[in-house]
Amino acid sequence: MGSGVCAIAYETVELPDGRLPLLMPMSIIAGRLSVQFGAHFLERQQGGRGILLGGIPGVYPGNVVVLGGGVVGTEAARMAIGMGAQVAILDVNVDRLAYLETLFGSRVILLYSNSQHIAEVVAAADLVIGAVLIPGRRAPVLVPRSLVQRMNPGSVIVDVAVDQGGCIETLRSTSHSHPTYMEEGVVHYGVPNMPGAVPWTATQALNNSTLPYVLKLADHGIKALDADFALAKGLNIQDHCLVHPAVQAVFPDLAH
Ligand SMILES: NC(=O)c1ccc[n+]([C@@H]2O[C@H](COP(=O)([O-])OP(=O)(O)OC[C@H]3O[C@@H](n4cnc5c(N)ncnc54)[C@H](O)[C@@H]3O)[C@@H](O)[C@H]2O)c1
Repeated sequence: MGSGVCAIAYETVELPDGRLPLLMPMSIIAGRLSVQFGAHFLERQQGGRGILLGGIPGVYPGNVVVLGGGVVGTEAARMAIGMGAQVAILDVNVDRLAYLETLFGSRVILLYSNSQHIAEVVAAADLVIGAVLIPGRRAPVLVPRSLVQRMNPGSVIVDVAVDQGGCIETLRSTSHSHPTYMEEGVVHYGVPNMPGAVPWTATQALNNSTLPYVLKLADHGIKALDADFALAKGLNIQDHCLVHPAVQAVFPDLAH
C-alpha cells in the first residue's frame, strides 16, 4: 500500500461463475497427488497396511473414500479409479453429486455427506482423502477422533483441506520433509502446499493459466481491468488503498 503499486492477487482472480482460475490448476494437482501419495503410504515400509490400491484379480482392491467432490475430490477419484480402487465420494451438494454421476457413472459410490454415511465408509476405508471447502471459512471437521480410532491399523488419511484447517480431527499440518505421522494407528499426511512436490508440472500449469491475464496487463496496463471481470475481481490494492472486500474483512485496520 505504501509503495503505490496496483496489486492483483492470484487467489482472488475470480470468474463470473465463482471459479478461481489461478487456483484451479493447484487443486487439480493436489487432488491427483493425494492418491499417488496415499498409495505410497499404504506400503508396509511407510507404515501402511501393505495394500496395493488396485488389487489384483483374486484379491480385493483398496477402498478409497473422498470427502468433498469438488475440484480436488474429482481429480482424486479420477486417479483412484484409474488405479483400480473402489471409490466413494461424499458431498453435500446434490447437483455436484449428479454431475459426478455423469462423469464416473456407476464406477463410484456417490453418497450425501452426513455423519452416518461418513462413519460407515470411513471405518472401512484404506485411504481417506479430505477435499472439502466452504469458501471463506474453516473446513468443517467431518471425521472425529473416535472414528479415526475405528479405522483399520495402517490405513492412510491424506487431508488436502489442511490449508483451511483440515477436516479430520486428528490431522495437523506437516511438511514435505516430514510428510506423515502415526496417530491412532493411522498414517496421517497433511502437507498444505502439495503442488510444491511437483514444481516442474506445477509451474508450467500455473503459467498456462496466468499467461492470458499477464498478456492483457502487458497490452493494456491497468485498463485491462475494465474489460476483464476476473482480473477486476482480483484487485487488492489501488491508489494506496486496500480495496478487496474479503481482504478488508480480514484486515479491518487497513481498510478505509
Ligand atoms: N494441500 C494443498 O496443497 C492444497 C492444494 C489445493 C487445494 N487445497 C484445498 O483443498 C480443498 C478443496 O479444494 P477444491 O478446489 O476442491 O474446492 P471446491 O470448492 O472445488 O470443492 C469443495 C467441495 O467440498 C464440498 N463440501 C462442503 N462441505 C462439505 C461437507 N460437509 N461434506 C462433504 N463435502 C462438502 C463442496 O460442496 C464442494 O463440492 C480446499 O480446502 C483447498 O484449500 C489444498
